[in-house]
This record gives sequence, structure tokens and C-alpha cells, in this order.
Amino acid sequence: MKILILIVVLIGLFASNINGQINCVQTPSDPSCANYQYPNANSTADIAALCKSMPYMPVCTINDKCMSLHSHDGLCDPFSILGDSCTHDMPGMGGCKNFRSLCNTTAGSVVQECKNFQQIDNLPTTMTLVSLIQSICDEMPMSACTSCKTSKPIDCDLLTTYTSLCMEMPTMSQCQAFNTMCADDSNLVSSQLSTFCKLPVEEQTPLMRMFFHTGFLEYVLFENWIPRTARQFAGYWFLVFFFAIIFECEKTLRSILEKRWEIKPDSDDAVQSSFLKGHYAPFSYRDVVRGFLHGLELTMSYLLMLVAMTFNVGLFFSVIAGTIIGNIFVGRFRTYKPKVTCCD
Ligand SMILES: *[C@@H]1O[C@H](CO)[C@@H](O)[C@H](O)[C@H]1NC(C)=O
Repeated sequence: MKILILIVVLIGLFASNINGQINCVQTPSDPSCANYQYPNANSTADIAALCKSMPYMPVCTINDKCMSLHSHDGLCDPFSILGDSCTHDMPGMGGCKNFRSLCNTTAGSVVQECKNFQQIDNLPTTMTLVSLIQSICDEMPMSACTSCKTSKPIDCDLLTTYTSLCMEMPTMSQCQAFNTMCADDSNLVSSQLSTFCKLPVEEQTPLMRMFFHTGFLEYVLFENWIPRTARQFAGYWFLVFFFAIIFECEKTLRSILEKRWEIKPDSDDAVQSSFLKGHYAPFSYRDVVRGFLHGLELTMSYLLMLVAMTFNVGLFFSVIAGTIIGNIFVGRFRTYKPKVTCCD
């Protein structure tokens, strides 16, 4: 009985030994290879080899991102990343040799891992990205273009450049591939790599939209003045609101001063001009004050106009609300109608 068990154990050991010796990379058609898993260390080494010779490939960007996220599963599984490159981007490269052999269906590969790994749907190829970036940057030299020299676009991080260009200008025809890759139901959007489709709110840049829209993300006059959250937006809203009130006060002040400084034609101070045919006040410091007040008024009215021209509904109505409230408070002191400026 003991001998029988020993024989069974020995046969088992022998069989598993043979099984262990079958090289699934070389003979992927062997039935015992169905559940074979290509070691992660080898996938990582293959990716490193690919990215050493072509660091601008999209999978290299993906790989870097996964490393920085410390993520190794789903789309970040090293075998998946390797597959992204070797199935449709650069299958001819040396780093893909093992992958191609292991997953060669014409050689009858039965390895399940080759069918089951998660691939990024519709990831554009390296060459597609090169030509799309070139085309976008020829048409519209946006800031992200500077990271890719147009003469040698292959010197840069293609995927990051392309996605940031398309996040700024999603309607460009060259961004079709981006919109497909980043469709709402795509696996990239629902993965840990979704920042390639949509940046976190603290990194997003406002879009210029020449039609009325809502939302918080907006440039308010300056490059760095960007409300991103409801709280920040409320801050900017009240800033504009009080600015509009101050604008109303300034207009009232000027009208009061001009009324006070008015000179009657029969006054002793009046200077008669035969050329202009009438009586006028002589030149004094008041003219300087009036000139500067006029300049201030024009500046303020243009600033308010520029805020309204963000086409943000909230900011637009902060201008209007400030004007209404300011006018209710100080409008009645305007005994004299101020001269019409841009946005009186
Ligand atoms: C994985 O890499 C190790 C170390 O380079 C190597 O010895 C081994 O043969 C590789 N395995 C496969 C399946 O290629």
C-alpha cells in the first residue's frame, strides 16, 4: 500500500515536472497551457524594452501613469499594457516577441490569458497620434503643442499631448479618436486611468464658449483667476457684484462733481470764447479730476463687460444684480445724467 502511494506520488511529481517544463511561450498550443500566466516580471521587462527604444508610445505613457498610481490590475495589469502595444500598435518590436509567440492563435495558442486581458478600447496607435497632433498643431498652435516640436513630433509624450489638446478643443475633427476612446461607456473612463479623458477639477482649464452656459470653471479676467468649486464661484460672484456697486457709486460721484462744477454763462469765472461761441469754465485742477474719473469709469465698465462676456450665466447676473442694487442706493443722487460710456 505504501509503495503504491509512493508510486502515485512519484508519477504525480514526474507529470507536474513535465508540465512545468513545457514552455508555453514556445508551444502555446499545448493543452496544459490554457491556464498559463505569463509572469508579471517578464511583462514588465518586455514593456521596459519596448519603451527604451520608443519612449513616446502611448503604452509607455499608460505604463508610467500606472506606476505613479501604484496600480497593477485591470488596465494597469502589466500583461494588459503589453497587450495594448503588441496586439495593435507595435507588434513587430522585439519586446513583443514573447507576447506574439504566446498568443499566436494561428499556431493554435490555447492560453486563456491572451483572450481575457483587459485592453484599452480604441487606444490610438503611435502613428495615428503623430499625424493627429501634427494636424491639430498646424491648424491651431495651442499651448500643449509647444511640448511637441512640430518638426519632430516624435520627441514628446504623444498620448498626454493629444489628450490635453483634445480636452481643450474636443470639437476639432482630429479629436474623433479621443472622443471614441473617452466615450462615456468606455473602459478608460471608468478605470483608474480616467485622467487621460478628463482632468481632475483642480487641473482643468476653462473652455472659451461664446454662448450662454452655466458651471463654475471660468477665467475671470486673469489667467490665474479661475473659480473651480461652488464656494470659489460664490467668492467671484460677490467680487463682481460689489465691483458693479462701486461702479454705480463712481458714476454718481462724477455726476455730482460735474453738476457742482458747472459754470453759469453769466458767472464771473466764465471765459468767453469767440471761436467756440460761448462761455466756458477756465482750465483748472477739476479738468484733471474729471478726466481721470472718466477714465476710471471707462475702465470699470469695460471690466464688467469682459466679465459678462464669459457668457457664464451666474457671472452675467452678478453684473446685473450689482448694477441694480447700486442704482437703487445711489441712483437718486445723480442730478445730472452722466455721459454715456460703453455700458452705461
Ligand atoms: C522570464 O524572465 C526570466 C528572467 O529573465 C527568464 O529566466 C524566464 O525564462 C522568463 N520567462 C518566460 C516565460 O519568458
